[in-house]
Amino acid sequence: MCGIVGYAGIGDALKIVIEALKRLEYRGYDSAGIAIRSDRGLKIVKSVGEIGNLENRVRGMSIKGATGIAHTRWATHGIPSEVNAHPHPDCRKKIALVHNGIIENYRTLRKELLSRGHEFRSETDTEVVVHLVEERYYPLRKKGIEDALFVAVREVIPLLEGSYALVVVAEDEDYLVGVREKSPLVIGIGSGENFLASDVSPLLKYTSEVVYLDDGECARLDRKSFRIVDKEGNTVQPGIHQVDWSPKDAEKGGYEHFMLKEINEQAGSLHDTFVGMTGENFTLSPMLKTLVPYLKSIEIIGCGTSYNAGMVGKYFIESLTRIPVGLCYASEYRYSSPAEHTPLIIAISQSGETADTLAAMREARRRGSVTIAITNVVGSTITREADFTLYTRAGPEIGVAATKTFTAQIMVLDMLGLRLFEAKKGDPAQLGRLEGSLRGVPRLVQKVLENQERIKEVSRFLSKAHTIFFIGRNINYPTAVEGALKLKEISYIHAEAYPAGELKHGPLALLSPETPVVAVAASDHVREKLYSNVGEVCAREAPVVIVAEEGDETAWNYTDDVLTFPACSPELSPIPASVVLQLLAYYAAKERGCAIDKPRNLAKSVTVE
Ligand code: G6P
Repeated sequence: MCGIVGYAGIGDALKIVIEALKRLEYRGYDSAGIAIRSDRGLKIVKSVGEIGNLENRVRGMSIKGATGIAHTRWATHGIPSEVNAHPHPDCRKKIALVHNGIIENYRTLRKELLSRGHEFRSETDTEVVVHLVEERYYPLRKKGIEDALFVAVREVIPLLEGSYALVVVAEDEDYLVGVREKSPLVIGIGSGENFLASDVSPLLKYTSEVVYLDDGECARLDRKSFRIVDKEGNTVQPGIHQVDWSPKDAEKGGYEHFMLKEINEQAGSLHDTFVGMTGENFTLSPMLKTLVPYLKSIEIIGCGTSYNAGMVGKYFIESLTRIPVGLCYASEYRYSSPAEHTPLIIAISQSGETADTLAAMREARRRGSVTIAITNVVGSTITREADFTLYTRAGPEIGVAATKTFTAQIMVLDMLGLRLFEAKKGDPAQLGRLEGSLRGVPRLVQKVLENQERIKEVSRFLSKAHTIFFIGRNINYPTAVEGALKLKEISYIHAEAYPAGELKHGPLALLSPETPVVAVAASDHVREKLYSNVGEVCAREAPVVIVAEEGDETAWNYTDDVLTFPACSPELSPIPASVVLQLLAYYAAKERGCAIDKPRNLAKSVTVE
């Protein structure tokens, strides 16, 4: 979604904010803009499309200044256009503001502002905020009030409904003001320079010390210092986090796409995540240990790929611990009226900022559930609201299509399953066997990564299809769901996943020699059933690709297009099998010349409902 950068320092603000903005490109955007306090007043430049277009616009302009803001917009209110792009100026063009989120009461505010004579230039919800700030700022400044902009912004906050991260700059003030309400905003502490951003990735190059603002907090930030106040105006002691990601982690490192780099990093990210969940690095809290033996049910919530990881977790935890595990899209959970109370909720979010997941988790807490968050981002909102947090240690994920965080989420869920099993006094031998197998998963994934040629070949023929079905059974049904999601996200080929047994209840009607089917087979109790379903597919002359364990001879009876992963415990097969499907989607999208890291209309982090 939209991205924000703010800079107050001694460097060339224009260069720095544009450079930082590029590191937010992965969030998805359709237009971009900057506002710099230059020696010739406040300069605002915007453009539609790529940041490169913005760079072309500013090239040759002399915009010298050491304080500025920048934004990448993902249209919600009003089409992608220059006027709708941020920053938005006030009537006198001396204040400029960028915004992530949605101002829900903007219609009423706009009407009132229009009646008071304000001139609106855009169709956005955002613009009302800058006019509200202007109404307060100029009189405060005239009265000689210190930090007039900081005061004015704080006076506006109670008027706004919705979600927002805002950063404001003014021609006559040498500092920035940032506010957060249900949309992330981070301060980066540099030396002789400070930053604001919607996430840490643009800050990594400059600092590893960050402060995450909480809802309702407002920050005043200049090159030397920053101050945070809460809604009541009390000064807040900042909690400073050290980010242990290096700037290199957020670079392509020679790969053509972030997605390919991130797929190839999975042996390492899975190892790190496994280690993070073992030995001294992980203990089930005494409270959870007490809860587990009596636990009647668990519910997993999440969106997109995180939901799909949750589905794998559901199968794994349920079969191991015999605790019933429900699964719900966060966007559905938050408005549901469950008949029974779920004592434990696991909320999964790579970014830790997805609006629906946060809202669902808040609702779960309101209903009295204990909450465990699984996330990849230290200090993200979800970590501050959940009762417990478990981290995936995947490093920054830039490609919009989640890959390494998906497999890391499964690893965390599997390891959590083992700990729950342990707390329920499960068989130590089974526990030891499973933990040993999980330790070996990074090696399995490494083997898949070493054999990409065959996957590339098969992807060529799939890339020509208009529709592809993905099927699996039991714990590899979610593998099929995630495989279909990856393919449709980045290649724009219509892809649908079905539990293989459901084919005859509808999808068979669509099968023909033009509709390939990708089947995922593991050496488990449903393998033979799956192959019967593959037989049904072949009878309709639909081309079949089978993702199967090495040595599974049956697969070859149905097709020559067999893609393999190393033999493993069937309950762990979703991880290596998913890596095969990620690569299949990647190479199919590449074959079709798609914008793999930034698929159209999609955003990495969805911070609005
Ligand atoms: C967006 C992203 C997906 C992601 C989903 C949930 O749709 O494009 O890749 O799976 O959000 O994000 P989260 O950060 O909560 O895991």
